[in-house]
Amino acid sequence: QIFSTPAEGAKWVAQQVALLMRAKADAGEHCVLGLATGSTPKLLYAELVRLHREEGLSFRHVIAFNLDEYYPIEKDALQSYNRFMKTQLFDKVDIDPSNCFIPDGEVPKEKIKEHCADYERMIALVGGIDLQILGIGVNGHIGFNEPGSSIHSKTRMVSLENSTRLANAYEFQGMSDVPRLALTMGISTILKAKKIILMGWGNTKAPVIQKAVEGDVTESVPASLLQTHDDATFVMDEQAASQL
Ligand code: GLP
Repeated sequence: QIFSTPAEGAKWVAQQVALLMRAKADAGEHCVLGLATGSTPKLLYAELVRLHREEGLSFRHVIAFNLDEYYPIEKDALQSYNRFMKTQLFDKVDIDPSNCFIPDGEVPKEKIKEHCADYERMIALVGGIDLQILGIGVNGHIGFNEPGSSIHSKTRMVSLENSTRLANAYEFQGMSDVPRLALTMGISTILKAKKIILMGWGNTKAPVIQKAVEGDVTESVPASLLQTHDDATFVMDEQAASQL
């Protein structure tokens, strides 16, 4: 789906999320959303907050699982994805905080494996993710699944590429403050979602979007693995779609 501006694209994505949320509510079921961070989904969250405030869209039956978190990082640190989600969405809508799951950047090192296995189990326990929202890194990462991540990977600790740390340095004082590690859902975790929407805005994403959509399915471009999913949609502005 190609839109003239990121705002129009984000609005369309918000409509898809709202449609699903309302359908699930009408059926008396909970709605399991997989959520992303970064600059890309900010417009989507702003639109969902608007739909909540102005059109009564309720999040009471939503269960949210975030893709990833830096490691280590304090939950309240300015740059933590935990804080990002509260500021951008969770504190502004009627979601039950006990239904909001984000990998824990404070978990002790020796408990990481257990924590990641629990994360997978919790997703399975609620019936899997109904809709997974994604951004894309300039190197093709989804979540923090850097190039080379296995299609079979699950939630785990990963090392960040320097290019990713550089791209995210704006959130920190500088690149040396960007953690070298992160916890992320795996590619297989993401591919198990019933529906996937990846958003990409701007020229910087154009080359990788071309590779992900039209190139080979390869673990060296993690987003290209979405070609194997039967309900994955890329939503772009014209700039991000300019090399298709
Ligand atoms: C970040 C996140 C990803 C995100 C991507 C793009 O590092 N871990 O989930 O999709 O990189 O970020 P941005 O949206 O700021 O371009």
